[in-house]
Amino acid sequence: MWWTSYVQDRMAANEQVNEMSIQGLFSELDGLEQEAKDRASGVDTEGELTALTKDFLGKKGRVQQVLRGIGSMEPEDRPRVGARANEIKAILEALFAARLADLEQQTEDRDLAKRKLDLTLPGRVPTCGVAHPIHAIRVEMEGIFSRMGFDVARGPQAEEDFFNFEALNFPPDHPARDMQDTLVIEGGRLLRTHTSPVQVRTMLGYELPIRIIAPGAVYRRDDDITHSPMFYQIEGLHIDKGVTLAHLKGVLTHFAQELFGDGTGVRLRPSFFPFTEPSVEVDIACIFCHGDGCRVCSRTGWLEILGAGMVDPNVLRDCGVDPEVWSGWAFGVGVERVAMLKYGIKDIRLFYESDQRFLSQFQR
Ligand code: DAH
Repeated sequence: MWWTSYVQDRMAANEQVNEMSIQGLFSELDGLEQEAKDRASGVDTEGELTALTKDFLGKKGRVQQVLRGIGSMEPEDRPRVGARANEIKAILEALFAARLADLEQQTEDRDLAKRKLDLTLPGRVPTCGVAHPIHAIRVEMEGIFSRMGFDVARGPQAEEDFFNFEALNFPPDHPARDMQDTLVIEGGRLLRTHTSPVQVRTMLGYELPIRIIAPGAVYRRDDDITHSPMFYQIEGLHIDKGVTLAHLKGVLTHFAQELFGDGTGVRLRPSFFPFTEPSVEVDIACIFCHGDGCRVCSRTGWLEILGAGMVDPNVLRDCGVDPEVWSGWAFGVGVERVAMLKYGIKDIRLFYESDQRFLSQFQR
């Protein structure tokens, strides 16, 4: 029938029209992709890129506008066009994201270039604490004596009169107590004025023979450039059978040479302490002029560094040691005094002020 072929012709013509408009859409989408690529490579700022993104991918953007045409298409054509449109969307999203990353990188590069970052500069070394000079020298002295076989003993800083004075042969009201201006605290105790009470505690508490040093803080009512109300001492005590002053001199000579260098001379001068008999002051040959005489040693060639002597038989007896069988020597040395000599420090207060400019000089 005539109309059959007419209808078939019309349908074929319609399909052709349809196919043409779909092809038109595709090429429009292709055109969008190309245009987006061109314009994306032309933007210079993130702001421009944001505007461009909106222009293409926004709700009312160019891709969306193309898609609006889908509604009027034949249902069977819609999926093809939709799939292509989504593909283009994904391509553009990736494109804009990559361009954004580029721009961010450029911004960072410009920023770094402005900062003139020099990667060849050495890093900053973190400041690291150092041992306090008093602590360091005390550890050094302990090392010297422990290598000679001495143990380290300790006693309380809040001490009883008995250990600080009485057992050391200072009778009550004896003028010798004035040698040490004592700080008295509550509870009938005092702040020990020296480390000598550790001698008494050790003799009373330990088996003989004894070979100890006793380092620690001591206190006196005293304050000037060479005296501090708190300072450190190291006590030495050696009790055995047949111990003499010659052993004392030998040990102290070795000590002085380890601390101040080979060949450092030592001399003993007569002195007085209530707890030693005989008592001596011990000098070392001046470490600055080596005995020639200079300002530091008052032209004598010698520097006084400690007090010592043979432990008084009265003290031995009070501490339960038979002086007919045992003998021994003792000494007491000021740690600050040694540190001041060794490092050439004139004012003792520098040790306690925590001034980094002073302390950092003792970096080893
Ligand atoms: N304890 C004394 C003082 O601080 C120093 C001293 C001298 C200690 C003679 C001793 C010694 O052990 O035998 O002044």
